Amino acid sequence: MPTSRVAERVSRFGTSIFAEISALALQCGAVNLGQGFPDFAGPAWVKAAATAAIAADMNQYAPYQGLPRLREAVAATWHAHGWREVDAAREVTITSGATEALFGAVQALLDPGDEAIIFEPFYDAYVPDVTLAGGVPRLVRLYPPTAASPEGTPPTDGVQRTAWWFDPAELAAAFTPRTRLLLLNTPHNPTGKVFTRAELDQIAALCHAHNVTVVADEVYDQLVFGAATHVPIATLPGMWERTLTLNSIGKTFSVTGWKIGYAVGPAHLNDALRAAHQWITFATATPLQGAAAAALEGALTNAYYPLLRAEYAERYALLCQILANAGLPTLPTEGSYFVMADLAGTGFTNDAAFCRWLTSEVGVAAIPPSAFYADPATAPLLARFCFAKQLATLHAAGERLGTLRTLSKR
Ligand SMILES: Cc1ncc(COP(=O)(O)O)c(C=O)c1O
Repeated sequence: MPTSRVAERVSRFGTSIFAEISALALQCGAVNLGQGFPDFAGPAWVKAAATAAIAADMNQYAPYQGLPRLREAVAATWHAHGWREVDAAREVTITSGATEALFGAVQALLDPGDEAIIFEPFYDAYVPDVTLAGGVPRLVRLYPPTAASPEGTPPTDGVQRTAWWFDPAELAAAFTPRTRLLLLNTPHNPTGKVFTRAELDQIAALCHAHNVTVVADEVYDQLVFGAATHVPIATLPGMWERTLTLNSIGKTFSVTGWKIGYAVGPAHLNDALRAAHQWITFATATPLQGAAAAALEGALTNAYYPLLRAEYAERYALLCQILANAGLPTLPTEGSYFVMADLAGTGFTNDAAFCRWLTSEVGVAAIPPSAFYADPATAPLLARFCFAKQLATLHAAGERLGTLRTLSKR
């Protein structure tokens, strides 16, 4: 049988390390701290809103911009956080997860040959999103607070850093006459970095100077810990007009399978996104949009966000303790539900080999962050663990990791 020709644009996309580690975790019965989704249920009142929406026959296509009630709830959320008065009719678009919003935004804002600046390590969809639009990724390195490998060693300027950081000169040098977009993710997956106001000011100044649009992926905006504060870059002076901010109901309400995302920004950027969205998915699951509206509305009056943060802070502290006990010191997480552990003391020199070994021999799955670098060989020697897990799951991982010190000395 002749084999069908596969388009060049997808032929490079092999099976990801995420799929490989997940399959291995299943096969070995490992506790899976690799994949980035909660293993606990979303709030009962949010789930009840979804079943009620289906029972009420909200089961036909939604308007392509999204249900008016959900767009109003997004606008009310921005108002309640003190970020901006948003016009729900023209400045909010509902998408099938932040994933679709990212894909649609890049399709809508990048012409072939245009360049998009991406901080590295990056959420894995960013580079394919840019290349599928015919764009060229320009990577700017985020450096760990402590150098974890020779390749990860930052330029030496003598400054001690307690958080992941970038070199402003390297960022400035990444801007060229072809730069159209900057993809910003804060709080950041996989590092857990929350970009500071000063860093956002630097990014904003460069975007102004080079007339660059920002796609701000802020899906972990409610998961910020300690002294860190999440500042949407769209709220900086002059940035509203050039920023499309993306978010995900799945992350904030622990229902990642619903795939409800949204974009907030000026009408001209929403018009562009909507033009792409109408030919990508056209409309997003109607009853789940109804439930998402109930979720956002409810969260504004029932103290959901502080509770969510407190629960995540407990999970984060527990996982750090467990990893430290196992000889895997962690780098500080300021936001998101991921923590990076330093593998320097394990005897391994390759993060993927360590994660495969940890999954099959110890029974705990983690993700090698080299998957988030264009050239995996230049990644610092770390492993990413997800703490969007029940305390019981984390304790189960802790019991298995207890054997790590002896095993890794073999
Ligand atoms: C940084 C980041 N952006 C976007 C997404 C995708 O969000 P959604 O599930 O709403 O498509 C994820 C999911 O892991 C993520 O970590």
